[in-house]
Amino acid sequence: MEWGMKNRLSRLIQADGKALFLPIDHGYFQGPTHKLEKPGETIKPLLQYADALMLTRGVLRNCVDSAVDKPVILRVSGGTSVVGEDLANEAITTSVQEIIRLNASAVSMSVFVGSKYEHQSLTNLAKLVDACEDYGIPVMAVTAVGRELEKRTARYLALCCRIAAELGARVVKTYYCEENFEKVVDGCPVPVVMAGGPKVNSQLEVFKFVYDGMQKGAIGVNLGRNIWQTEHPVAAIRAIRAIIHDNYTPEEAQSLFEQVKAGKT
Ligand code: 5RP
Repeated sequence: MEWGMKNRLSRLIQADGKALFLPIDHGYFQGPTHKLEKPGETIKPLLQYADALMLTRGVLRNCVDSAVDKPVILRVSGGTSVVGEDLANEAITTSVQEIIRLNASAVSMSVFVGSKYEHQSLTNLAKLVDACEDYGIPVMAVTAVGRELEKRTARYLALCCRIAAELGARVVKTYYCEENFEKVVDGCPVPVVMAGGPKVNSQLEVFKFVYDGMQKGAIGVNLGRNIWQTEHPVAAIRAIRAIIHDNYTPEEAQSLFEQVKAGKT
């Protein structure tokens, strides 16, 4: 592996081999998502606890201080919206020149395996990998399910992750599933990070799945709504960080969450 690629990956994946990525890219197809109306304000108290920030160029340029000392994972796919016909019909939206100009440490794009646009999104991934590898920029593939959240089974996610890795993704982001998640990770030759999905009812639920996914081989998370849409986002990110980097159990994470929430630490 070339020095530049290694260097960028080492900025994202920490020395312990783990990672906490904070995504705020949801507006690229959802518009002003709840609690992300002013992304710059949302991330201010959270950034210090994240290993990298995932976002589009528009939010990066307009809402994030250019002096920020945090690696950026630039989302470079889009072209669809929640009110449009099909979320899977994405294109690559950002040139390699722009990726370099914005000093991105990595890029990310969605693949929609099994959808009408499977071929398009997978060949988009292969082309993006070709273009970015020339400059030592890692591609993180996002295994997207559009509105069909019920697709999140181990069999399907394993298929998506393996295909994304085979096409050259250096990291794959996928969903956690309760049954057989180890098969998803074991079948994927590159590091896997877990998305959070829609906000769930209790923090403990999030801590449990992050912990379980880590035990089963994920290197960390790319987790947004279950941090910044919660009532206590700083407590949430600190507890999740403790699971990822300090091997906290869900119960220990819950206790840290309560302490931070109460202003005790
Ligand atoms: C949106 C994304 C998000 O980055 C990803 O889904 C993670 O965020 P969340 O934890 O809110 O699901 O790719 O398209």
